[in-house]
Amino acid sequence: MKTCIIIGTRPEVIKMSPVVRACEGQGADYFVIHTGQHHSYNMDRVFFEQLGLPDARYNLDVGSGRHGEQTGRMLAGIEEILIAEKPDVVLVEGDTNTVLAGALAASKLGIRVGHVEAGLRSYDRRMPEEINRVVADHISDYLFAPTEQARETLLGEGISDEKIFVTGNTVVDAVYQNIEIANGRDGGGAGPNLEPGGYFLATAHRQENVDDATRFAGILRGLELVSREFSLPVIYPIHPRSRKMMEEFSLDAPGVTLTQPLDYLSFLKLEADARLVLTDSGGVQEETCILKVPCVTLRDNTERPETAMVGANVLVGVDPEKILEGARTMLGRSRDWENPFGDGMAGERVVEILSDHR
Ligand code: UD1
Ligand code: UDP
Repeated sequence: MKTCIIIGTRPEVIKMSPVVRACEGQGADYFVIHTGQHHSYNMDRVFFEQLGLPDARYNLDVGSGRHGEQTGRMLAGIEEILIAEKPDVVLVEGDTNTVLAGALAASKLGIRVGHVEAGLRSYDRRMPEEINRVVADHISDYLFAPTEQARETLLGEGISDEKIFVTGNTVVDAVYQNIEIANGRDGGGAGPNLEPGGYFLATAHRQENVDDATRFAGILRGLELVSREFSLPVIYPIHPRSRKMMEEFSLDAPGVTLTQPLDYLSFLKLEADARLVLTDSGGVQEETCILKVPCVTLRDNTERPETAMVGANVLVGVDPEKILEGARTMLGRSRDWENPFGDGMAGERVVEILSDHR
């Protein structure tokens, strides 16, 4: 059974790392294609170095670009490699353009597709990710759903039960495999003298938030209000898309400490020790839930409703007053929720299931 793992962005490198480790551990015949969707050192290479991941056999270096242009370049590049390598199955993770291109290239060649983190839905087609995940799910042969709820969603869309495997989310594996190492370090590049519980952590990079001047300004104002009300700093390791848009819209962020995007271990530690996290990231909603850190989500919807259902997360959108209100609400909650995303063995399960279906 020859497996091709396709990755392209920061969250895919992190969330596929447990699958790569499981392939190594189980002696699987596998290779990795990196599309190069993310390419800056601190959005890509740093994670390979820190997680000790083997280099990709192929890097397409597609870089940034418009959706069609970027996805098209990936599609052509992946197709060529798949024709030459003839894998039995292609694995993709999540909802990026890399996932769309990988799943599409493989399925058109009649190669089986495994979608890790299948069955998530925001029901918001303004999000490019929603389109990517719907298409990927419907052309996949193995749907690795993180939760029972995701499985139900897939069944509701007519996907056959035999294709669906509830594995948990590999984000739990990644957190469990790295949190102790992270806790043994200081806060890295985030700034000096941050006491546990003595700061808020923020991330925002969703296209529908930061490419819209009004929405992005609402988020930054909300962060300022939160910092002022609780007299604590807000640390925002800023994604390159957001940095670019802040400059384009001439926005500033009073009361908010901007840093470069952080390496994974520094970021995990900052998350684990934060008083509260404010984010529009998918992975960060999950990680805070796992780490028992309250989360305020700067979106109108989420494809991770489990986080809100267990009481770990509240959705507030981008209105500054609602962001402040959400922070007050979450700071008043006890942190005794259950982690709904599995036991940290998802990566092992994915590889075992594939080898059982040779
Ligand atoms: C992509 C994913 C998104 C995911 C995010 C993870 C899609 C449609 N979007 O969004 O689902 O949450 O990755 O972080 O696939 N840039 C750099 N260096 C990099 C990468 C990006 O400078 O290494 C800048 C470029 O200006 C680029 C912009 O960020 O144009 C956006 O990058 P892109 O990969 O298109 O989308 P993301 O916003 O990163
Ligand atoms: N992350 C990181 N450094 C940062 C911000 C995030 O290592 O400065 C990690 C975080 O721990 C999580 C992942 O990146 O595992 C989330 O990626 P992102 O928010 O870019 O994408 P999304 O999950 O929204 O697709």
